[in-house]
Amino acid sequence: MDPFEVIPTGGALGAEVRGLDLRNELDAVTVRLVRGAFLDHGVLYFRDQRISQADLVRFTRYFGDPVPHVRPQPDRPIKEIFVISNVTEDGKPIGALGSEEIPFHSDLSYLPEPGTISMLYALEIPDKGGETMWASGYAAYEALDPDLKQNIDRLHAVHRHPIDALNTPEPTMHPVVRTHPETGRKVIYVSPHLTHHIADLARKEGKVLLEELIAHAIDGRFVWKHQWRVGDLVMWDNRCTMHRRTPFDDRQRRVMWRTQVFGAGTG
Ligand code: OGA
Ligand code: MN
Repeated sequence: MDPFEVIPTGGALGAEVRGLDLRNELDAVTVRLVRGAFLDHGVLYFRDQRISQADLVRFTRYFGDPVPHVRPQPDRPIKEIFVISNVTEDGKPIGALGSEEIPFHSDLSYLPEPGTISMLYALEIPDKGGETMWASGYAAYEALDPDLKQNIDRLHAVHRHPIDALNTPEPTMHPVVRTHPETGRKVIYVSPHLTHHIADLARKEGKVLLEELIAHAIDGRFVWKHQWRVGDLVMWDNRCTMHRRTPFDDRQRRVMWRTQVFGAGTG
């Protein structure tokens, strides 16, 4: 019998994992089963956790190397933890990303080697808003018209962060259709937040196509929304999903710990 249960959300992606207490170390069989569920569902969430920063880093390490986030943050004991929050203390933000909407994106796609797996653990959440939704790049790709699939198969897009200082000196390019290195399945890899233009087409033609692809990729059919509760840990696969956060009232507090993995992990 599996040491835990996997309950699909019923939406285009995502599943809840029930029965694991992430304060504990996981054995190799459990890790393998969680990895399998993760590749199947793209997003996994674990509720009612009460973990420390060290627990989160240890759990992240089962799937790859957690690295300090590329964006600077105040010195802290466990550098692999990045705080996502709108809260300020003594006039200084304690974390990143504020309270505004964050449009759909795949993490760090503005870098030549984007993030692969990201995790968020909820410590404080607002009463309303600040929800995160994920879109399945697989479902979006599979639902494309066959002619369009063929047209976009060899195209590349330039990805760029709206904050210019975060970008690499050379433009970052990725295929519009990527193949997930572990599942071998194809996904649409463009986003409204970070994809700037299609490299291989005239600007106007490229713009029309990019808008069409983005509108398709974030269509409600392919999206599932997570309603956060304190103690939720969510992990997602940036190689086959995008996510968006809804805005919330900045007078409310939202505090999360985050970890980031690059590379394909240990398999
Ligand atoms: C992120 C992100 C969304 C959120 O941490 O990469 O996009 O819900 N966060 O805070
Ligand atoms: Mn993100």
